[in-house]
Amino acid sequence: MLTVRRATSDDDLAMVRRVRMTVVPYERAPSVAEMRASLTRDSLVLLVELDGQLAGSAVADRSSITGAATVTPRVLPEFRRRGIGSRVMPHLLAHAVSLGVDQVLGHADDLGSKAFAERHGFAEVDRQVEQVRAIGQEPTPRPRADVEVVTVAERPEIWDVVYERLALQAFQDMALIAPMHAPIDEWRVSWIGDPAAMFVAVAGGAPVGLAGLIADDDNPHRAENALTVVDRDWRGRGVAAHLKRLSLAHAAKVGITEVYTWTQKGNADMRRLNEHLGYTTRLQSFTMRRAIEAAQPQRGEGGDQGDRG
Ligand SMILES: CC(C)(COP(=O)(O)OP(=O)(O)OC[C@H]1O[C@@H](n2cnc3c(N)ncnc32)[C@H](O)[C@@H]1OP(=O)(O)O)[C@@H](O)C(=O)NCCC(=O)NCCS
Repeated sequence: MLTVRRATSDDDLAMVRRVRMTVVPYERAPSVAEMRASLTRDSLVLLVELDGQLAGSAVADRSSITGAATVTPRVLPEFRRRGIGSRVMPHLLAHAVSLGVDQVLGHADDLGSKAFAERHGFAEVDRQVEQVRAIGQEPTPRPRADVEVVTVAERPEIWDVVYERLALQAFQDMALIAPMHAPIDEWRVSWIGDPAAMFVAVAGGAPVGLAGLIADDDNPHRAENALTVVDRDWRGRGVAAHLKRLSLAHAAKVGITEVYTWTQKGNADMRRLNEHLGYTTRLQSFTMRRAIEAAQPQRGEGGDQGDRG
């Protein structure tokens, strides 16, 4: 029997995390503590079991894209093509409806998952590419005369100022399908990465650029690039390249052998900068969208016997 139940305890969240690490092995998985900290009353996290065996997980939540929800069904490879994803999807769509949004987004990293999303009424609206940089001998770049670089470990109070001065600009300027917004509480918890590896360029007492790394405790040899942003008035002067080179040098120093980053297809500047720094493209991910009018659960789609909320 297929059981779909809410993930509530830390053990449940650890199982959700296990599914994520199996299905998305190429990405850092947030810890259980981070998962718990990011949950809000808008979050629905489900565990899917087949005859008592873990088969998958599913999450629906408000998106950082205004007016949208995200849905993330994940089925372990050995349980695929048995209709499990399709049994879970109506729960996620119903939850999205309850959030009062007008569109639902999902991300598919392979063509089979994209076909699944299309089968459920989603269409591709964007792509993201994963760029990867092998870390070798990474020289520390010479200091620049026009900016001072500090780490967030050295100046913890600067993180909130970076949000006000830089992150809010970045959210507006990212080549996304619609503007995104992350509240300051989320910025403090989920975006800070490794404070010792978070480099802020300061000029005239104010932050003008940010780049850094998010460590991966499960795979200490790899790290993800954190948000890279340069103040609009400072773009085109090599500040981002300087901060990213400092991040790469830091990676080499602490034994990281691979740094990866995800960038929107439309963000040609960022992709070119990464290529210039020696990154190569590894994967692409499809952003899939479905209008909420069409997302109402259809007759017979929901209400599995054996589901417990
Ligand atoms: C997407 C995913 C959840 C599908 O789970 P699933 O339980 O295998 O899906 P279902 O068995 O319900 O598939 C329903 C239909 O979707 C389509 N589909 C699913 N997987 C497919 C694949 N690999 N290739 C082509 N079509 C596929 C088919 O039309 C399938 O019906 P069929 O088996 O009768 O042909 C699973 O592949 C997965 O975990 N992928 C990684 C995470 C992800 O990308 N999630 C999607 C976010 S939108």
